Amino acid sequence: RKRVRTRHFRQAKADGVKITGLTSYDTLTAQIFDRAGIDFLLVGDSAGNTVLGYDTTLPVTVDELIPLTRAVARSCQRALVVADMPFGSYEVDAAEALHTAIRFMKETGAHAVKLEGGERSADKIRRIVDAGIPVMGHVGFTPQSEHGLGGHVIQGRGDDGADQLLRDALAVEAAGAFAVVLEMVPSDAAAKVTAALEIPTLSVGAGPHCDGQLLVWTDWAGLTTGRTPRFVKQYAHLAQTLTEAVVAFRADVESGAYPSAEHEYE
Ligand code: KIV
Ligand code: NA
Repeated sequence: RKRVRTRHFRQAKADGVKITGLTSYDTLTAQIFDRAGIDFLLVGDSAGNTVLGYDTTLPVTVDELIPLTRAVARSCQRALVVADMPFGSYEVDAAEALHTAIRFMKETGAHAVKLEGGERSADKIRRIVDAGIPVMGHVGFTPQSEHGLGGHVIQGRGDDGADQLLRDALAVEAAGAFAVVLEMVPSDAAAKVTAALEIPTLSVGAGPHCDGQLLVWTDWAGLTTGRTPRFVKQYAHLAQTLTEAVVAFRADVESGAYPSAEHEYE
């Protein structure tokens, strides 16, 4: 159970071995995913939606993510743990970005940080990497700028879109990132980026040609209710399972079937 390191990401790409990641926000899921061999766990600012009850990731703060990230980092023996830098914690300048990255590294035990943006974030990535902190990039659809992008719009479409996506991914690589997330882009644009980069590309709705796949665990496990994006495959139906359990529990309590003798102390 040797720790996954950033060098293993590059090695996996060179060897053609796919990388698997999930988000996690708590100790129980982190232990399960880690023991099952997931290569990296992202403590995403998607916690805004999945844990904290916000409509978007925009209100999420560093102070909210730190305890979640610490719980995940403490629970993993093998997986590389990535702390997601929330909106408003790195955009002003490279010094602010480094300050936030240092907070996550000191206060949580995470092994890397992630931040959104390609060319516009390259100077921040460079500064953090120069301080010895591994950075995962994130280009294509970037949820923290959903209002600037005009909603949940697929990025990298058409020749201009594909060119911009490639420029952004190359900027992230040149700035020293060890991997880059491609979110909601056409498969052929993602394939071109994957071929052009030495660092692995991690797909969130970017098709099968990337070097790895990442999903928000509550979508992947069918715990999220309501509409999920086209790219999500549900590997379980936890919302349904829990609903059935609640209905059964309530019926047992009302009928007196629970607790029965086996659950009583003498
Ligand atoms: O916050 C998150 O979960 C993410 C992934 C969807 C890439 O940033
Ligand atoms: Na995120």
